[in-house]
Amino acid sequence: MSKIQKALQKVTAAAGGKATDSRTRETIKTAIRSDHEAKRCASLPHKQRIEVDLGLLSTSGIATLNEGESELRDEMRRIKWPILANAFGDQRKDIPRGNVVMVASATSGEGKTFTTINLAMSIAAEKDFDVLLVDGDIAKSHTSELFGLTGFPGVTDYLLGDVSNILDVTVGTDLPGLSLLPAGRADEHASELIASNRMSDLVTELSQLFPNTVVLFDSSPLLQTNESQVLSRHVGQVLLVVAANKTPTAAVKDAVALLGPDVVVNVIFNGMKRLFGQKYSFGGYYGYHYKR
Ligand SMILES: Nc1ncnc2c1ncn2[C@@H]1O[C@H](COP(=O)(O)OP(=O)(O)OP(=O)(O)O)[C@@H](O)[C@H]1O
Ligand SMILES: [Mg+2]
Repeated sequence: MSKIQKALQKVTAAAGGKATDSRTRETIKTAIRSDHEAKRCASLPHKQRIEVDLGLLSTSGIATLNEGESELRDEMRRIKWPILANAFGDQRKDIPRGNVVMVASATSGEGKTFTTINLAMSIAAEKDFDVLLVDGDIAKSHTSELFGLTGFPGVTDYLLGDVSNILDVTVGTDLPGLSLLPAGRADEHASELIASNRMSDLVTELSQLFPNTVVLFDSSPLLQTNESQVLSRHVGQVLLVVAANKTPTAAVKDAVALLGPDVVVNVIFNGMKRLFGQKYSFGGYYGYHYKR
């Protein structure tokens, strides 16, 4: 429930069901102002701002805020609510860094980047929550590519110490609630950089930087690289994407075994069915959520 809804509920109850007097209206206005203030703070400090190329995203099958397949948008809603509840609900006390979420998979091509961007769009569309989408797949940096951020400084530049303030490399967008952190320059020592204390500090800093913000990491395949298993030790939640009817069960089990011991694991099966022409369907993203 938003601050505004909460305030409305409270003051309507206080006014015996009729929120009409001037004190009541003032309380509502204050709630609205503080809500806007929170949104404004979340999008203010970036030194760079880009316009998102919605055409490019939509040709890549990404559901944008007002467009895209309603089926896909519904799937994303179902995926995001348990994650938001873990991050900001009553159980958040039990999940350190619960608002830092890494999208992972056992092998490549299971739909991590696709899911990460669609989910980010879906969270950004929420009035009460923002998202900082981090390209944590240093080698491929597909997310950076899809937002036209190839060659922009990002995670690696910060980890290498070339950038001292992470807000110098985060990028604001013209989509309310959506900010980006590019992968940065390719580095052959990416796994060592991600394993470093500086990465751990960065995740902690990002988790506390903005209120009501999900820090959402795209990542590299767990069974094919070291970086993502190391990254899973820093985050509060993992969203494990499993390509339905493709990834062997043994591979999924091996991937889960590599994850950090304390992380909350959310699993979704990506149907990846292709329907008529260029249209796609998830063929039912089916998910479940558990804490080991
Ligand atoms: N549910 C889906 N519906 C339609 N297309 C999808 C779906 N999931 C994935 N794809 C498409 O499948 C391809 C592979 O997905 P994606 O790039 O997201 O995988 P990945 O796990 O990020 O791969 P990598 O590990 O190589 O980065 C992409 O072209 C993507 O657009
Ligand atoms: Mg990818």
